[in-house]
Amino acid sequence: MKNVLVVYYTQSGQLLNIAKNITNKLESSKDVNLSFYEIKLKENFPFPWDKTSFYDAFPESFLQIPSDLSDLDNPLLQQKYDLVIFAYQVWYLSPSIPINSFLKNKVAKQLFENTPVITVIGCRNMWVMAQEKVKKLLFDNKANLVGHISLFDRHPNHISVITILDWAFTGVKRNFLGIFPKPGVSDEDIENSKRFSSDILEAVRSNKFSDLQEKLLKQGAVIIKPFLIVTDKRANQIFSKWSNFIYKNGERDDASRRKWLNVFSYYLMFAIWVIAPIVFIVYLLTYPFTMGKRKKEKKYYSLTQLK
Ligand SMILES: Cc1cc2nc3c(=O)[nH]c(=O)nc-3n(C[C@H](O)[C@H](O)[C@H](O)COP(=O)(O)O)c2cc1C
Repeated sequence: MKNVLVVYYTQSGQLLNIAKNITNKLESSKDVNLSFYEIKLKENFPFPWDKTSFYDAFPESFLQIPSDLSDLDNPLLQQKYDLVIFAYQVWYLSPSIPINSFLKNKVAKQLFENTPVITVIGCRNMWVMAQEKVKKLLFDNKANLVGHISLFDRHPNHISVITILDWAFTGVKRNFLGIFPKPGVSDEDIENSKRFSSDILEAVRSNKFSDLQEKLLKQGAVIIKPFLIVTDKRANQIFSKWSNFIYKNGERDDASRRKWLNVFSYYLMFAIWVIAPIVFIVYLLTYPFTMGKRKKEKKYYSLTQLK
């Protein structure tokens, strides 16, 4: 009998749907005992979000400052597994606060040590640097990262910004104004993620994970858009300055922090709507000279190793 644990956090339920589909064949398999553990915060974030809480999550998300968790004495966390599937979302180019809090907690050490792990992301579209941060925390916990699947919104970047904000602020996955596509990972991509479950089942049954990522990649587990890597890296540099500055400006309810978070919210929209298109034009103009570098990056971010 093989024991597999899915560890996840989700606000809308999207990540749980994805995780269930990815483990579809394990669920129905008699020789696999599959369990789900939901990460719980002592004080959860609202869903739908209000504007203040949405931007207030920025400094601690980006600076990877953990929050207190509950349900850590759950028996599911007290045993070892043949495989852990770790399903997470990205907040502000970093693992979400609940996910980061779990990875930095001592329960993660005992759970992940010498254990094969598959990371699964469900996000808007900018996940590459967040995955680097998660890789680092998993390696700190001595986990053995054997696979990665990334699902995201395939619509153009600016469309997905509009639709995800509507989703975040209403809590409803809908066609905003009747003209926009639905936000987040498409129903089709969520449904089709069942295709990954056979390779995962085979790997866990044979306890052979060395070629799993290659197999998952053949099934389209990771699709990388080089321009988004450039934007992600650049935005990380800028977010680093903003988050440190705002964090130093006071505690959660301080007026000064509120004021600067408000300024940041306007800056973010300016960066998305004005700076990002300029970066895109520069990216296109310089593409012939950076092609080699982009190809290398694409390969590296598809794999599970950490530089
Ligand atoms: C505060 C916040 C920040 C987010 N930042 C990003 C981001 O930087 N990159 C990205 O691709 N998606 C981002 N998203 C989208 C999430 O990764 C995720 O897809 C969405 O919140 C749905 O996840 P759920 O399963 O928890 O409902 C953000 C969402 C929230 C609420």
